[in-house]
Amino acid sequence: MTAQLIDGNAVAKQLRAEVAERTQALKARGVTPGLAVVLVGEDPASQVYVGKKVEACQQAGLHSVLERYDASLSEADLLARVAALNEDPSIHGILVQLPLPRHIDAQKVIEAIAPAKDVDGFHVASAGALMTGTPGFWSCTPYGCIKLLESTGIELKGKHAVVIGRSNNVGKPMALMLLQKNATVTICHSATADLAAFTRQADVVVAAVGRRNTLTADMVKPGAVVIDVGMNRNDEGKLCGDVDFAGVREVAGWITPVPGGVGPMTVTMLLVNTLEAAERMAQR
Ligand code: GUN
Repeated sequence: MTAQLIDGNAVAKQLRAEVAERTQALKARGVTPGLAVVLVGEDPASQVYVGKKVEACQQAGLHSVLERYDASLSEADLLARVAALNEDPSIHGILVQLPLPRHIDAQKVIEAIAPAKDVDGFHVASAGALMTGTPGFWSCTPYGCIKLLESTGIELKGKHAVVIGRSNNVGKPMALMLLQKNATVTICHSATADLAAFTRQADVVVAAVGRRNTLTADMVKPGAVVIDVGMNRNDEGKLCGDVDFAGVREVAGWITPVPGGVGPMTVTMLLVNTLEAAERMAQR
């Protein structure tokens, strides 16, 4: 059996069209959702990412501002900018692009963002809201994975989901989101003794490690759903995920490609969260 592809570009396109529609409805009520993106320094990858975020806002009709600062910006000055954006009524979402220069404490900056504007979902208040199932913002990459899983029409309730990776931004929130969807969840990581013993039992595998060929065909239960969050380069320099796509697609029931799977979802969920933030503020 060859797995069905989960088309991240198609799911993202559909969601962005819904965001554009809801944005128009909110604008008709006099509120334009606004995202502030703050970039400190010249990291080339970060420059590409923030460009995509701003462009996606424009395409969906959201207001966005990109604030760029020299790598020498002090932590105090960055905290002052965040405080000003917290008070700015035209801004509903604040994203400080990571990584930050080493002299700035990134966690301190994230905690300075008003939780109501934390559209990245990185604030401890957002993490706590996810853990307790109370309203907050879900971090964009794992939230995008949930949308991809939902796009298959497969019910997560009662399924065994194995998450490979325990990062604060992907692995841990992914596990909590799957738990909220009533899956039975196992978290595996670099110290897991026998990874394959777990993944072979999984109805759903989410690979978020950052190492290619972490999941190979012999580790996958026939028909399983495989979500690949990895973004790596192979020996030819081509983008690849954490999953051996060619092998695993012959065993799995559903699989996300890299590129064109999880990738387009992260920015999409940022738009969803920013719109949601604006809708919540408009209701108050
Ligand atoms: N750097 C790489 N990905 C992200 C992200 O999703 N949010 C922020 N703030 N920084 C990042």
